[in-house]
Amino acid sequence: MSKSIDHVLEESRLFEPPAAFVKNAAIKDRATYDRLYQESIEDPEGFWGRMAEELHWFRKWDRVLNEDHPPFYKWFEGGTTNISYNCLDRHLDSWRKNKAAIIWEGEPGDQRILTYQELHRQVCRCANVLRELGVEQGTRVAIYMPMVPELAIAMLACARIGAIHSIIFGGFSANAIVDRVHDASVEAVITADGGWRRGSVLPLKAAVDEALERCPTVKNVLVVKRTENEVAMVEGRDHWWHERMAKVSDDYPAAELDAEAPLYILYTSGSTGKPKGILHSTGGYMVGTYLTSKYIFDLKEEDTYWCTADIGWVTGHSYIIYGILANGATTVMYEGAPNHPHTGRFWEMVDRYKVTVFYTAPTAIRAFAKWGDDVPAKYDLGSLRLLGTVGEPINPEAWMWYHKHIGREGCPIVDTWWQTETGGIMITTLPGAMPAKPGSAGLPFFGVKPAIVTEDGEEVETGGSGLLVIQCPWPSMLRTLYGDDQRFREVYWSKFEKQGWYLTGDGAYFDKNGYCMIIGRIDDVINVSGHRLGTMEIESALVSSPLVAEAAVVGFPHDVKGQGICAFVTLAAGAQPSETDTETLREHVAKEIGAIAKPDIIRFTDALPKTRSGKIMRRLLRDVAAGSDSKQDTTTLEDESILNKLRAET
Ligand code: PRX
Repeated sequence: MSKSIDHVLEESRLFEPPAAFVKNAAIKDRATYDRLYQESIEDPEGFWGRMAEELHWFRKWDRVLNEDHPPFYKWFEGGTTNISYNCLDRHLDSWRKNKAAIIWEGEPGDQRILTYQELHRQVCRCANVLRELGVEQGTRVAIYMPMVPELAIAMLACARIGAIHSIIFGGFSANAIVDRVHDASVEAVITADGGWRRGSVLPLKAAVDEALERCPTVKNVLVVKRTENEVAMVEGRDHWWHERMAKVSDDYPAAELDAEAPLYILYTSGSTGKPKGILHSTGGYMVGTYLTSKYIFDLKEEDTYWCTADIGWVTGHSYIIYGILANGATTVMYEGAPNHPHTGRFWEMVDRYKVTVFYTAPTAIRAFAKWGDDVPAKYDLGSLRLLGTVGEPINPEAWMWYHKHIGREGCPIVDTWWQTETGGIMITTLPGAMPAKPGSAGLPFFGVKPAIVTEDGEEVETGGSGLLVIQCPWPSMLRTLYGDDQRFREVYWSKFEKQGWYLTGDGAYFDKNGYCMIIGRIDDVINVSGHRLGTMEIESALVSSPLVAEAAVVGFPHDVKGQGICAFVTLAAGAQPSETDTETLREHVAKEIGAIAKPDIIRFTDALPKTRSGKIMRRLLRDVAAGSDSKQDTTTLEDESILNKLRAET
């Protein structure tokens, strides 16, 4: 096993959940978890079938799991349902009809509360508008929006019809929209004039306009008025949301969809240049996100739950909208930046809405810690009873800060490991049933069978690190990569094809408590602020600039972001770097992909270290970027002087 994934941390502190928490927890002890876990592994069909019955099905399934053609698994085969129905209509026959479904706050401070009934009405209207615009079951609809309630309404409306949504994070550029629209032959786009971010308007509609010049498949664009900035409306193609919504009925029966009907595509980075269109389907994803939300966030009727992610990432799909609303809980949505207009904004909101369950990312926690202990201390955070983290390994210092300054030492913390591909949380502690351990994700959720194996598929002894694989299918798993079954097989299943294991792409180990410690990615994927970026994607963006001849991108440890981006760049025709080149190239990457992909550091070099066969040795560059002395083997290097020069300049 490569040194780079060897672990260095050994954390032994365990934090038991407070007695008051355990008393009301859905799962109160380890024995209950063990019993349910055992059942879920020994009899997955019995277990998942029972859990699925908590939700509404128009027609019950014939078979819980069809494993006839791995890796193309089918869940709840023969069943029909609708996730929008389960998130909305299911609650309308109960007292929940006038419960807040979404509590929303805009960055400027405006607020909206949508009850389940009101959200249902809006979703029905939106479904009617989309139908008028030609959207049907199976139509691909791109959504490029700020964090406003209309985003939730749009996705639930697509789900209601059975249209496949493809949400594109509002921070991505026009080029990223083009790639995603092309890949899925998107026919309709839902966007907004703009969104608020740190007091400025993100010009979303302008980015869509630029993108659509190159996207002939798109016939209609629905535009929400949010920031009231001037936008161009293309006659016949562009429609104002508020005008169309006012003219349609607020009734739209949810389509009875096959359990395996595609629900959405969400693009994520892989080791190669082109983002992968992760495809999730209806029934299994619904059951998976419902059950994980229920037990991991221990949702209670009176909870006010807030996940600070953007819906443009999978965390927002599963744990702001689908899993949370399927449980009939109240979900908080916030539009803007955590430090606008001041660094206490999140805590002010926790205090204002009396948030009880709070879910965020380690990168945010590290930023909060940097802004000072006195910031959260100014607010009443007494409503909080449970905290969560997601997106990247959390360093024990950040964990302790969260525990002390946000949880005030009285809230369990769930460190939830999962991926866009897994659809829902896979490894975590259950908050009332077991102690949490700083920096460790914990135990597998029900129905998940993780293992640590060598490259050859041998299981590694407890304590040893290796590749994290999942040894059985689970309901919320991705079904394929949109339009590319071959790549789906190759990326996730080919390495352990014989065994039928899913390759996560992460390195990990089990510690002496049996808890899973995630070390990080083992491929060319970097995790910047909890967001996955492929190094190849950034390299292609750099090379597309006429200034650049060649580029190699690696991650390096970064105090706040977890990993920063370092680009080693060779200029075209041996040009000498000028002072402005760094900024030009950073802006170029922002334009090609989005601001999150801007390199933190650009290092110009005459040449890149390569093997004799011409492969760039990124693992050596990783050490140079981290400023660490490389003990790695350099014997395959073609010209060691290049590396020595780069090291000397560090
Ligand atoms: O490396 C793991 C890391 O994030 C990757 C998945 O990224 P993405 O698909 O963007 O989904 C992020 C939100 C679910 C994983 O392969 N990761 C995610 N959660 C954790 C984590 N690493 C350590 N601990 C976590 N809790």
